[in-house]
Amino acid sequence: MTDLSSTPAVPAPVIHRADYRPPEWLVPEIALDFALSLTATHVRADLEVQRVGTASGPLRLDGDGIAAKSVLIDGTAHNDWYMDGDSLIIDLPGERHTVTIETEINPAANTQLSGLYASGGMLCTQCEAEGFRRITFFPDRPDVLSRYTVRMTGEKAAFPVLLSNGNPVASGDNADGTHWAEWHDPWPKPSYLFALVAGDLVASRDSFTTRSGRRVDLAIYVRAGDETRTGHAMKALIDSMRWDEDVYGREYDLDLFNIVAVADFNAGAMENKGLNVFNTRYILADPETATDGDYDAIEGVVAHEYFHNWSGNRVTCRDWFQLSLKEGFTVLRDQQFSADMGSAPVKRIEDVRILRAAQFPEDSGPLAHPIRPDAYQEISNFYTATVYNKGAEVIRMMTVLAGPERFRRGTDLYFDRHDGEAATCEDFVRAIEDGAELDLGQFRRWYEQAGTPRVTATLTHAGDTATLVLSQTVPATPGQPDKQPMVIPLRTALFDRATGQHRGEQLLVLTEPEQTFTFPGFTAPPVLSINRGFSAPVAIDLPMETADLVFLAAHDDDPFARYEAMQQLMVRHLVAAVSGDLPDEARGEGLAAIRDVYASVLADAALDDLMRGELLILPGEGYIAEQLAQADPSRIHAEREALKRWLGSQLAGPWQALHDRCTAVPYSLEAAARGARKLKTQALVYLAASDPVEAARRAKAQYDAADNMTDRQGALMVLAGIGTAECDEARRAALADFHARFAGNALVIDKWFSIQASALHPDTLAHVTALAAHPDFTLTNPNRVRALYMAFAANPQAFHAADGAGYRMIADLILKLDPINGNVAARFVPPLGRWRRIEPTRAALMRAELERIAAAPGLSRDVREQVSKSLE
Ligand code: PHE
Ligand code: ZN
Repeated sequence: MTDLSSTPAVPAPVIHRADYRPPEWLVPEIALDFALSLTATHVRADLEVQRVGTASGPLRLDGDGIAAKSVLIDGTAHNDWYMDGDSLIIDLPGERHTVTIETEINPAANTQLSGLYASGGMLCTQCEAEGFRRITFFPDRPDVLSRYTVRMTGEKAAFPVLLSNGNPVASGDNADGTHWAEWHDPWPKPSYLFALVAGDLVASRDSFTTRSGRRVDLAIYVRAGDETRTGHAMKALIDSMRWDEDVYGREYDLDLFNIVAVADFNAGAMENKGLNVFNTRYILADPETATDGDYDAIEGVVAHEYFHNWSGNRVTCRDWFQLSLKEGFTVLRDQQFSADMGSAPVKRIEDVRILRAAQFPEDSGPLAHPIRPDAYQEISNFYTATVYNKGAEVIRMMTVLAGPERFRRGTDLYFDRHDGEAATCEDFVRAIEDGAELDLGQFRRWYEQAGTPRVTATLTHAGDTATLVLSQTVPATPGQPDKQPMVIPLRTALFDRATGQHRGEQLLVLTEPEQTFTFPGFTAPPVLSINRGFSAPVAIDLPMETADLVFLAAHDDDPFARYEAMQQLMVRHLVAAVSGDLPDEARGEGLAAIRDVYASVLADAALDDLMRGELLILPGEGYIAEQLAQADPSRIHAEREALKRWLGSQLAGPWQALHDRCTAVPYSLEAAARGARKLKTQALVYLAASDPVEAARRAKAQYDAADNMTDRQGALMVLAGIGTAECDEARRAALADFHARFAGNALVIDKWFSIQASALHPDTLAHVTALAAHPDFTLTNPNRVRALYMAFAANPQAFHAADGAGYRMIADLILKLDPINGNVAARFVPPLGRWRRIEPTRAALMRAELERIAAAPGLSRDVREQVSKSLE
């Protein structure tokens, strides 16, 4: 399609938070009338516009790639309007008017999947952040809230189901084979929450009765044949509705709640009022096709979107700089929900691992931004781990400072004060301050300053007193060379070596550049356990004896701290090894300590298997790289593999016994069975490093016997990573079987692509090149693109190939994908943007690829912003 929006000749303007101005015109009511067609949908929009106060400006309506076919003012044709770039400007006298605008759009040509688009014969919308302006002209900003009435007419055969936000009002058949439906949403909302779906869909139904007795009809709409795979999502929805009443006092506010699953979707899911639209991967599951991880992700995302009904929809954002107001808070809420539904300690460890893998690199790279950014060119680029996950951590710190009851008083006040409004992060902070009676003055810096704070802890002991000196620095980030000290709440305990116990946890709140805390009553030096539960999203520098880390790995009663002690033990060893800083003797001692801790975790009868599985995960290569000023990815990979091989061979017996024990556990969704599945594949991973032939034999047996996707995918992942020639036949056979077995199931074929792209196999680059030419591969489906290329970009050995072929592959992808879907293409820039933190030879290759992209004509605003920031 010819897209008017995607080729700005000049760099896009920078939008600044400080430039916010309230709207001059509001739109209290809007009526939309759609004549639906895959290639030519006609849209008529009636806007009731109303001047605000004494504002004197003209009416400015945003557009993007659309043209007005006609403009009427109060029912009369009107020619006195003009375009200013993509905006439609009307000089309107007076206070109130009805503005009627007709547009026509081609959903089938909308490969960006923003606005109204086609997916497998159905029509659906995605309007966050700025997609509504691709449908009709409108003040497309979240502080303009309107009541929507939506009428749709379309062929009954092609679009038997017609959905929009709110409640169905009326529907009927026309004589010409079309039918129509009208929906009304009583809740005023910003345009980004508008949604429409038309297609041949079937519904799985259930209901939920709210605590005040409102019966809510629930439906999940999917393609025929998929309705058998919606049960887990439905359960998650019902659990979420109940949980939000119990924990946050939030009740649902419409008589129906609809979810639609679509196969072509840029993100995970979207919280449109009363009509959530989901990527199929976060809805469809059954044991044969979905892993335990998929089940958890579905539960979390269904909850996340449901929770947005209050944190996002009832209270929305004033402008897009406030994105973390809804996203940070809603991520925290979905994390708390998942913790309550399953194992809280395991969930916490997983969330910290995600933060460290995805957000810490943002904070230390060229795209670093505060959770409330100050400027952007393309808002789509700010749907980041910083805004989402660090945003959640910042609010989590408020819960640590206030305690749960006072925090709840704060959120009650927030919802009460701002219900129906478009609010700011500052509004949220003030409500927590007032409701929880907490001074968050200095704490606000978490909204202002980018970068992961570093806390250095030094513990000394003299007489009967232990003294802890804590100091903090916040690293410089682009545009923020100088930083102020943060408020850092650190849950801390001091352990007696003799008893293996501590005397109660304390909350130390670091507010100054340096502070000293004293602890009397210790006749011997205690062992420090700090940032327990990961109470603050910071990095801790703590010179610690190996023996003390081993002690905490064995004794710490805080599960996160225990995990962290093991991670530290391994990170320190690997960083020293990679830096060439590890004499043979120290290497031997380090390895032995790690092996012994692993052995005790393997043998610890008090641990449940899900937690055991967390403790036995090696630190990621990216996280190790984060510890180094300039990383050599091949050395990190080699050292980490060497550690894995050592653990595999030293503990070969226990790994095999573990694999046997877990293999005997029958499939169920209970925690014990899930834990067994997690460990089963982990055992294979360690064995594969030391004894690939034995591991391949076991993996093949696991694959052949699998009655669920967790076992099957785990076994295939292990087989796909074995490069040993004598195992190659088993590897090929399993991959071929997997493809044949699940042909036609897009979500499982995605797994087939990503397993190969993330494989440890030495030929992964060649495999990915071949897979890009496979008939099942397409650049138009974001899930498929991510399955192949995100997995590849996250595979350090393949992506960081010494000759730069991995970098070239990703740059080629960006250039090819950008004209199709700039939003998804831009997501591939950050892996290349990390060049400053990589050793010089590779850094030059990465930079060269960024320069090649920058030199290409007609880049999307999305890619241009990310690439130019990465080169600055
Ligand atoms: N608002 C969605 C969520 O976090 C994410 C999203 C953003 C989806 C933009 C689509 C487009 O729940
Ligand atoms: Zn969200």
